[in-house]
Amino acid sequence: MEDGIKVCVVGSGRAGMVHAKNFRWRVPYAELAAIVDVDADRAREAAAELDLGDAYYADLEQALDIAEFDAVVITTPTFTHAELAVAAARAGKHVLCEKPMAITLAECDRMIEAADEAGVILQIAFMRRFDPPFVEAKRLIGDGAIGEPIVIRSVGRGPGLPPPWACDPSTSNGMLAEVNSHDFDSIRWLAGAEYAKVYAQAATRKAPQLKEQYPDFYDTAVVTLNLDNGSFAMLDGVCPVDYGYDARAEVVGTDGVLLIGELRESAITRVTREPGMVERNFLSWRDRFRQAYVDEATHFIACVREGKRPAVHGHDGRCAVEVVVAANESIRTGQPVELPLGV
Ligand SMILES: NC(=O)c1ccc[n+]([C@@H]2O[C@H](COP(=O)([O-])OP(=O)(O)OC[C@H]3O[C@@H](n4cnc5c(N)ncnc54)[C@H](O)[C@@H]3O)[C@@H](O)[C@H]2O)c1
Repeated sequence: MEDGIKVCVVGSGRAGMVHAKNFRWRVPYAELAAIVDVDADRAREAAAELDLGDAYYADLEQALDIAEFDAVVITTPTFTHAELAVAAARAGKHVLCEKPMAITLAECDRMIEAADEAGVILQIAFMRRFDPPFVEAKRLIGDGAIGEPIVIRSVGRGPGLPPPWACDPSTSNGMLAEVNSHDFDSIRWLAGAEYAKVYAQAATRKAPQLKEQYPDFYDTAVVTLNLDNGSFAMLDGVCPVDYGYDARAEVVGTDGVLLIGELRESAITRVTREPGMVERNFLSWRDRFRQAYVDEATHFIACVREGKRPAVHGHDGRCAVEVVVAANESIRTGQPVELPLGV
């Protein structure tokens, strides 16, 4: 068998370990070659868990100097993405970058430019695009099964508070970026249209202690959107919602409606002497999108091997950052914001 594409995962935190385990054991034609984390203990522990020997490094630069690999998976905090992606691209490495792509549009532009100049792939990790129910819904919309989409509703609610950097709007762009980037990307994708206007409202209802620490923090948001094909969209985000991970969407079309995703994790319902029926719901994004993470990684490797443009490119990442920036501005000003933003 031909050699696999060698991958270096940068950041061995929550998302990093999901990707690292997939590239190590579940993605065809891929070989996990190295893991990087600025936290030396974390990097060493991750390498042990991944059975990677001493292929762990303190920063990307060190890994680029010592290890051999073809591609980098960036799973570090959002505010570090641009610098790492540009360095990887300039070193000729293909890049799979976690969402949100970056904090600012200028950073997104630098990342896209660096990848284009180096002729490497830049894929953004919007795994809903690989989730079987979302993929099937997109296909049905494309086939005209519900006519033209008129209204899209999207729900993105996270179970618990993310790491501290993600609670700080200055290093994450806030919850609409950290949790609801996925909704912004999937609405645009399902609608097959670009955002024209956004109006967002936010509140702090679940974790008021963080508002003291980060004055711009919010944990609850409701957003209404206009797309440039005349369709409407709305989303809500609450994090921490405590009851589990909840990612669902509904597309109302001129000829019908599609319901995408479930709260329920399994088809088993338990009924005993106790009153009530018991079902299991998804507790984490790791469970809800288990297969989608493998499929997005498999797609990335296929794009590297075949020199194809990925289905979710830097441009898509930039569009999601743009609408998040605009939504945050709307929250601040209380006014709707027109898109695209003048840069
Ligand atoms: N697609 C998804 O479902 C999903 C889920 C969770 C997180 N994410 C995204 O993944 C990214 C990471 O989030 P997380 O929750 O895993 O964060 P985390 O804090 O759990 O992990 C980040 C890791 O990166 C390390 N790190 C920080 N700066 C670094 C640098 N310059 N070089 C190397 N390592 C560095 C930290 O030490 C830490 O171990 C974010 O962009 C987040 O939005 C995506």
